[in-house]
This record gives sequence, structure tokens and C-alpha cells, in this order.
Amino acid sequence: MDLTFHVQTYGCQMNKHDSERVYGVLENMGATAVDTIEQADVVIFMTCCVREAADVRLYGQVASMKNLPMREGSPLHKRIVAVGGCIGQRDGEKLFEALPHLNVVFGTQNLASLPTLLLASYNEGTQQGEILKTSDDFSSTLPTTREHFWAAWLPITVGCNNYCTYCIVPHVRGKERSRAMEDIVKEAQHYVDAGVKEITLLGQNVNSYGRDLYGKPRFDDILEAVAQTGIERLRFATSHPKDLTDGVIDKFAHLENLMPYLHLPAQSGSNRVLKRMNRSYTIEHYRELIAKVKQACPGIALSTDIIVGFPGETEEDFQATYDLIDEMKYNQVFSFIYSKREGTPAARWDDPTPHDVIHARFDRLLEAVARGAHASNQTAQDTDQLVLVEGTSKRDERMLVGKTPHNHTTHFPLPENKTLDDFLGTIVNVHIDEAKTWYLKGHLIGQ
Ligand code: 5AD
Ligand code: SF4
Repeated sequence: MDLTFHVQTYGCQMNKHDSERVYGVLENMGATAVDTIEQADVVIFMTCCVREAADVRLYGQVASMKNLPMREGSPLHKRIVAVGGCIGQRDGEKLFEALPHLNVVFGTQNLASLPTLLLASYNEGTQQGEILKTSDDFSSTLPTTREHFWAAWLPITVGCNNYCTYCIVPHVRGKERSRAMEDIVKEAQHYVDAGVKEITLLGQNVNSYGRDLYGKPRFDDILEAVAQTGIERLRFATSHPKDLTDGVIDKFAHLENLMPYLHLPAQSGSNRVLKRMNRSYTIEHYRELIAKVKQACPGIALSTDIIVGFPGETEEDFQATYDLIDEMKYNQVFSFIYSKREGTPAARWDDPTPHDVIHARFDRLLEAVARGAHASNQTAQDTDQLVLVEGTSKRDERMLVGKTPHNHTTHFPLPENKTLDDFLGTIVNVHIDEAKTWYLKGHLIGQ
């Protein structure tokens, strides 16, 4: 049977990684991935509920599929629609009430059951749901089809024990569980042997790795062990400032393949707000950490997450965040307007601040973000950089795009007699001629 499927993914890297497992599982059962919903017999939404916008969009998108005609030549008489990821986990079979033509709902730990659920739903014409509350299984034991052959995401923990007052993640992904160190190293070695150039270790808070394990291997032990597999580029995401240890910081000084780039979410520059967010650190501590990191790894590039408009944020609180962004010169800032999530403590707190004031703050912050990104890019001006090629520019297909060790996006012309395939997934030497606000421009050298 020539069955086609399409996966639509929202949200964080963990979700993108879970989608790679969905590709693996469905290709394993003989189905073929296609690029659009229209061409697909089976459509799977891998959802995110961290902020409200994605939530609302999902309901709209699934509802709008009701009247979509089947593709010509489909072996099915009716399209199968499935919802997984965080909304699947949170809402479970309640989704069937709101979306009567939805066929399958599965939780974040039920990827392995997906083929069975899809088949049962189709054969029996019933709605099928499976939501496990917790499981010690990692989806990484499932087959996978990686999005890029040169890069791999490798989950080391799932769940989160932190309960930041705005955040739905611990309510959906459960308490933190760490994967056995030998499984992590085995998977990393497998990627190295398969020619993967870059591994990103994943977890909601990789720094607290191992607290639930016997013998307590810690995150710095994982970094050391994975670095020893000989992977060319090692990265990790995401970190919590309260758990970033000296041992981990020290690895930036000693592991050559640990890339000089750290994503360290600050969320706010104001101690009053940090306290209400239950972040368990002060902004002074955050600054000290950054100073230590810079000492261990001079020139390290930084990025962060920021929430604007947390309930009760004053002009003074916002100014403290603005000043932090101006000072840190982040390469990248993922800034979000606060989004109320039912079931979290902050959802019960009133906020008198008008929407337009919050939006104006957000826009103002973006000016500081742009200044910081430009300053970060300028540190690479007139240097030679090793760039891992990831594709071509959306606007110009003769322009290659890739990342430096510092994670700076770099554009450079494709030589005339070459194609993207000659470069994709390889590391090349590029001289940086110009630092733009959001990217670097350069030219290939030594070719
Ligand atoms: N509203 C806005 N942003 C949020 N984040 C998490 N929860 C919310 C929320 N309710 C942001 C945080 C986190 C990132 C992944 O998403 O900045 O670090
Ligand atoms: Fe959410 Fe905080 Fe856990 Fe990050 S550390 S996933 S923001 S609760």
C-alpha cells in the first residue's frame, strides 16, 4: 500500500527531535513522507503549548482539514489526522470533543504506539487515544529519520522539576528523568561513525542531568564522555542558571570540540520579577556566571530567552531587562510576550498593565536585541571561520548559509562551477568580510 504522511511540527528542539522519531517509525512501516498536507494520507501534528498562539492555531488548522479533498491515488477513502506532542499530552481525549473528525491523539511518551493507533483508528473507524503519564523509556530507542544528515539532536533528559510560575512544561512533560550515560555515549558514537558533524545534547535543563540516577554521573561527565567520541562539534540546550556548575563551565576551557556558544536563559533582568517567576537566582548571580564563562572561554557567544510583560512587570523591571540585553551583547535573544497558561501559578495573578504598553516594551527590547546581535557579529569581522554548511539563502540560491563555531549565521557565495550538494553538511573555511545585524557575509578561502 502506497501510504503517504506529513508531519507538521511546532515548538522546541525536543519536539523537532520527537518528529524525527515519528518519521522513523512511519517510514519503518512502509509509509512515504511528503511535503504538504494536501498530498498526505496521514497528517500528524506535533504540537506545543508553551504559549497560547500555537495552541489556538492548532485547533484552527485541524478544524480546517475537515473539508480537504483526498489526494488522487490515495489508498484510503478518508484522511487520518493525529495530534501528538504537548497538546496531545495535556488535553488527551478531550481533543475529540472539540475536534470530532480527529482520529488519533497520542502523548509525548507514546510515539512507539503510533502505527498501532493509526491502524486501529482506520480499520475500526474509531477515535484512538493513548496518553502515558510517565515512562522511563526514551524515544531515542525508536527508529529515526534525521532532518539533517550532518547534525543530530540527542536527548539526555526529559521533563523538568523546576516549576517556573509561568511555565506549562513540567505539567506536560512530567518530572525530570535522565537517560543512562552508556546509552547516551553509544548513540553519540553511532552518530560519529555515521559521519554526523554536530551533536546537540537536549533537555529542558541539561545542567541537572543525573540527579535521579544511581552513582550520579553529572552533566560535566556527559560532556566529557560525548566529546571523547571525537564528534566535531558539540553543543547543548538548554541550561538553567541555578544549576550551571563550575565543572560544566570548566569544560568550555578544556574540550576543544565543545563549541564556544552558550544559551543561558535569563528570562528577566529584574530580581523582583525573577523571584515571582520562581527562577531561584538573582541577576547578580547570572552576571557572575557569565563572567566565569567568559573567563573560561574568551569570546564565547551567548544567547538567552526573555519574557516581556510577566504579570506585574513595572517600567523599572522592564528597564532592568533592557539594560541586561544591552550589556550582554547576545548573539541571539529569543524574546516572548508573556502568555497566560491555565494551570500555572502566574495564570492566577492579575496584571493591570495594558496590552499596548507590553507590546511597546517588546518592540523597544528588539532595538537592544539588534544592537547586541550586531556587536556579537562584529567580533568575527576580518577573521577566518570554519563554517558548517546548512543550505542556501532563501532569497538567493547561489548564496550558501552555515554556522561558525560561535553559532554565527554566515552567508557566502557558492562557486560558479559547484552546487549546494558539493557543500551541504561539510565544514569549509570562510573569510568574514562584513558583519551585518543578523548575519555575517564572507567568501570561501582555500578552495
Ligand atoms: N509565556 C511566554 N513565554 C514563555 N516561555 C515559557 N513559558 C512561557 C509563557 N507562559 C518561554 C521561556 C522559556 C522558553 C522556552 O519559552 O522564555 O525559556
Ligand atoms: Fe519551564 Fe522553567 Fe522548566 Fe524551563 S526550567 S521548562 S522555563 S519550568
